[in-house]
Amino acid sequence: MPKAERIIKQNQETEDVAGLRRRLLGWYGQNKRDLPWRRSSDPYAIWVSEIMLQQTRVAVVVERYRAFLTRFPTLVSLALAPEEEVLALWSGLGYYRRARMLHKAAQFVADHLQGNLPRAAVELRALPGIGSYTAAAIASIAHGERAAVVDGNVERVLCRIAGWAAGSRVDGTALRRKVEELADHLVDPDQPGDFNQALMELGATLCLPRNPHCLVCPLAGDCRTRGEHMTPPRPRMRSREVGHALSVRTSLNPESAPGQRGREVLLEQRPASHTVMPGLWELPALLDPVVPQQDLRMTVRHAIMQVNYYVRIRTVFEDDVEVLTVAGGERRWVPLGEASGMALTGLTRKVLTRAHLLPSALLDAIAPVEADSVL
Ligand code: ADE
Repeated sequence: MPKAERIIKQNQETEDVAGLRRRLLGWYGQNKRDLPWRRSSDPYAIWVSEIMLQQTRVAVVVERYRAFLTRFPTLVSLALAPEEEVLALWSGLGYYRRARMLHKAAQFVADHLQGNLPRAAVELRALPGIGSYTAAAIASIAHGERAAVVDGNVERVLCRIAGWAAGSRVDGTALRRKVEELADHLVDPDQPGDFNQALMELGATLCLPRNPHCLVCPLAGDCRTRGEHMTPPRPRMRSREVGHALSVRTSLNPESAPGQRGREVLLEQRPASHTVMPGLWELPALLDPVVPQQDLRMTVRHAIMQVNYYVRIRTVFEDDVEVLTVAGGERRWVPLGEASGMALTGLTRKVLTRAHLLPSALLDAIAPVEADSVL
């Protein structure tokens, strides 16, 4: 290509990119949701929000984020807390490994870096549980570093803008690399944090996977596909039936919490050696998920990843627990007032809340990603 032509093309491209940034940031300024972590410039608070937001819906995160930061307002307060308490405050968000890693990283920073979280994305990435996404999010939002964030929403938005077939399993890594290059190219050098959040916001609110709102999209004019995108097929959900015992007794302890006086529920701790949710408390598992109608207290659907669990909850008297349940980890009769502050599995919290054994304010905060319902 002759030199003059090349320069004209480059100038045009620079203008296109500047225009795209302007349109996106303008839209974000007018339309961004008022979320609690957007009111903070504290890198620690932003870090907590970004970890919670991975694989969990915003509505669920909002409630848990406030409670978490009230209890652990600083990195050092988190570092000093026992893991059990960190997990209890994470309860309902699911994917507890994130909480453990966050806690470990806070301890590392407190012990080895005088409590100062590194500023640069490249240094943040060296901490446990902080990958390139989280590092770029913290560095750009809290410190204005020009680091592009690519999460699932951003990948979808950029693929549509560029006209690339997103979601195809063929050559996914090469596609991801192209998306990252494009994100690096587009990210606004003056407002990288807002730019990153704006792209994520666009993906979360307008450029939806199956129903994009192209008519009101600020980037429709920049977009190659405008609704003509290829939609990856929905993953097929599998179904599984499981059962848990709900066993409640009257305590002999006169010092139980007021209001719940005297009532205790039987909980079991998942062994530390389990790869899934180690150390969390749950209702004992039934030997047989097929429950006679007269003993069936309720059925709860609980979706985890690609599996729909149909969970039969059986009322079990104290004397029958041993014969009807699978012997697993350590068991304890827990006063109901104490149970809500424990690191319960999401399913257990859901069941106890639906059975009116826990306060219902937490009901909305129990389902990571997938919808759930009582049948
Ligand atoms: N998803 C994850 N982090 C986000 C953020 N900071 N803004 C919008 N969506 C997000």
